[in-house]
This record gives sequence, structure tokens and C-alpha cells, in this order.
Amino acid sequence: MKPEAPGVPELREPPRAGGGVPVLGHGWKLVRDPLAFMSRLRDHGDVVRLKLGPKTVYAVTTPALTGALALSNDFIIAGPLWESLEGLLGKEGVATANGPRHRRQRRTIQPAFRLDAIPAYGSIMEEEAHALTERWKPGETIDCTSESFRVAVRIAARCLLRGDYMDERAERLCVALATVFRGMYRRMVVPLGPLYKLPLPANREFNRALADLHLLVDEIVAERRASGQKPDDLLTALLEATDENGDPIGEQEIHDQVVAILTPGSETVASTIMWLLHMLAEHPEHADRVRDEVEAVTGGRPVAFADVRGLRHTNNVVVESMRLSPAVWILTRRAVRDTELGGYRIPAGADIVYSPYAIQRDPKSYARNLEFDPDRWLPDRVKDVPKHAMSPFSVGNRKCPSDHFSMAQLTLITAALATKYRFEQVAGSNDGTRVGITLRPHDLRVRPVAR
Ligand code: HEM
Repeated sequence: MKPEAPGVPELREPPRAGGGVPVLGHGWKLVRDPLAFMSRLRDHGDVVRLKLGPKTVYAVTTPALTGALALSNDFIIAGPLWESLEGLLGKEGVATANGPRHRRQRRTIQPAFRLDAIPAYGSIMEEEAHALTERWKPGETIDCTSESFRVAVRIAARCLLRGDYMDERAERLCVALATVFRGMYRRMVVPLGPLYKLPLPANREFNRALADLHLLVDEIVAERRASGQKPDDLLTALLEATDENGDPIGEQEIHDQVVAILTPGSETVASTIMWLLHMLAEHPEHADRVRDEVEAVTGGRPVAFADVRGLRHTNNVVVESMRLSPAVWILTRRAVRDTELGGYRIPAGADIVYSPYAIQRDPKSYARNLEFDPDRWLPDRVKDVPKHAMSPFSVGNRKCPSDHFSMAQLTLITAALATKYRFEQVAGSNDGTRVGITLRPHDLRVRPVAR
């Protein structure tokens, strides 16, 4: 055994998770049932080694260590997940940049997401939340996937890239993003490059959608420039941004930044809305409590953005839904130097994964962990939740810039849905969990029933 420096405990090798098989290691379990696999890892240790084919990957399983990972400068955004994202969406956007470029890009986009910037988006969020419920007729079947995508993309596009021309574009963005996300996950988990070059209908559809996404972004940027207008929004901030030397940032970076904001901003919110619709259908008692709270706050008029602050219970319902059904279920980092986590040795270059899904459902952190209980977020009970056991937007320098923006729209949409309708799942609806870049129901279909 190596002698220990005084006061510095020797770093241990993390235990290897059980259940690996020759050649594939733990890969087959991760592909077959990733949520169950990730959820059981804590039984093997706080940090565990996984074998994915020939590669060793480290998994972090406790809330405290996920916080330590996210807050440490020893880890960056890199690894296979990010590389495949870059290949499709661009290399110069904020979601995949590191170091000084990332810090500069965050400074550019942050003002558009600050708490005091959100009220300026209030009327658009309000309009879109009510337009969603008004599109639906009682008794008809709602395709929750396309409807949730639609409202999420429209809100992100209209609030952040303002302009009247956005309405038609928001529709095209919906179609393009939904298709791109579907295809992207397949390309990430089954990285068989040549397979995706074959002239198959699915590949053609994916390529068309990806090309249209990039074309749309170019059109949005070109049109804003041609208009000569500079509204106070995120797009103006991106167009006016300068680099470390004070020079305007390049065209490619502007383009990749718009893509890097629209893509994480649509599928995450859309998936969360699908789970909220599912919750409203499956827990009518909770839907009624939301309706009661909204009516107490509004006195029966349509819910407005300004009401959101008073909708404490509705907010807790959204948080609890995000706890049990988080859109972002897996996150990864790469160690940039030899380092440690929880007393375990992590070598430079190691890829580390953790699952917010596993962390947020862990019985060690939550009493009656699988029960839908929005009251666990009441002030006198929230203190029982361990630190970092509920960080759906992450923490540290990669924390989602859009936490306030997202919570405001999700609370408003939930309030608008629950006051206008009750929901029932219809025959043929498939509410099983679909694991992709985000988690969402396979094909949720509900029927709105007028209140
Ligand atoms: C990053 C979650 C909505 C833009 C992240 C991260 C999480 C997250 C967990 C950190 C990823 C990591 O640590 O590796 C969510 C959830 C959302 C949501 C749960 C909604 C329910 C949005 C929206 C936007 C957005 C609406 C923009 C309109 C971004 C961007 C990043 C990010 C640009 C990258 C930040 C960086 O790397 O510095 N999001 N997000 N997100 N999110 Fe969100």
C-alpha cells in the first residue's frame, strides 16, 4: 500500500457495479432498461465503475456527489453524448462550449433569462397557454406529443426571438425539432454512421428536418438583420455580442447559439408538459386542487401571468411532476485532470454519468419515494429533502439558464389546463415511459372534459 500523506486519506478505486457481462459489460443493461439500471446503482456504491464495451465509465449515485460533480472545475462538458450533439447541431453553441468561450456566451444570454426579465414574456406565455386550451374541443382526442411540442416551441421562439414573422416559423420549428430529436437519440445510442446514410425514409425525414432547422435559423437571423430593428431580446443580444477581443462574434457562432438555445428549450419543456397532462389525467384529485387554487387566486377570470406568483400549490405540482418524471434523466461530464469524488480516484479523461431520474426517485432521499405528493415541497417539509436531491435544472456553471422562464410557463400552462378541463386517457394512449434524449410518454392521448 502506498504511504499516505499526513491528513490526506488515500483515494480508493470505486467499486465495479455488479451484473456486467463479457464484452458488452453493463452496456446491454443500459440499453435494455436504462432507468432501472441507473436506479439500482447506489446499492453498489456512491461512485461505481461501469464497463461499456471496452470503456470504463464512472457513475455517481448520491445527491451530494452529483452536486460536487456539477460544482467542480475538474469536470467539463465533453464525451460521446456531447460529441454527437455537436456533430448535428453545431460546435459553437453555449450548451457544448467550455472555458472562456462558455463564460462569455453565458454572459450574453443570461440577461434574457434573469428573473426580472421574465415578466416581459408574460403576455406571450399567457396567450399561448390559453390558445392551447382553446384549440381543443371537449370530447376530442388530443395528441399530447405534438400539442406539447407546439406550445413549448412557440413560447421559446416568440419570447426569445420576438417578431410577428415567428408564428409560421414556430410551426416549422416544431416539426423540425420533433423529428430531429427523435433521430438524434437513435444516432447517439446506436452510433452506426453508415446506417444513417442509407436512403431510407426515416433517414431522409431526419435529414430534411435537420436541414430545415438550420435553414430556419438562418432565415430568422437574416430577417432580423434586414428589418434593421433591435428589440430588447435574446436575438439582439446574440447579434450584438462580441468576443474576448471586443470583435463581433462570427456568423457560425450566432447560428449555433440560436440552435443551442432552441433545442434544449423545446424538448425539455414539451416532455414536462406531456407528464403534466398525464398527471392531470391520472390524479383528478390533484387536478381539482390546482383548479381550486387558481379560482381562489383569480376569482374565476382567466389565469394571467401575474397570478403565477400566488399559485404556490400549482408550482409544487409542477415540481413534484418534474421530480418523478424528469425530462432530463441523464447527464455526463469528463474529468480534465486526475481528481477525486467522495474519496474515490477519478482519472483524467474519465467520463462520468449520473441520472437525475435515479436521484429524484431514491428512497434514501424521499419518504414514500414513488408517491405523487406535491405537499412535500411545502416550506415545513422541504427541509427533509437532501441537498441536490432535486436539481432538475442542475447547479454550477452549466445550470440551465432557463429555470425561472421554464417554471413560469409550466405553472401557467398547468393552471390554464386544470381550470378549463378535466382529462381522461383514451383507448390507444400509450403512457409508458419512452427513453430518448429526454423522458416522455410514448404516445399520450387524452380527452378533455369541460369543467
Ligand atoms: C442546460 C434542464 C428548459 C436552455 C440545462 C441543464 C439542465 C436543463 C439539467 C444542464 C445540463 C448539464 O448540466 O449538463 C432543463 C429543464 C427544462 C429546461 C428540466 C424545462 C423543464 C430550457 C429552456 C431553455 C433551456 C426553455 C431555453 C429556451 C438551456 C441551455 C443550456 C441548458 C442553453 C446549456 C447551459 C450551459 O451549458 O451553460 N437545462 N432545461 N432550457 N438549458 Fe435547460
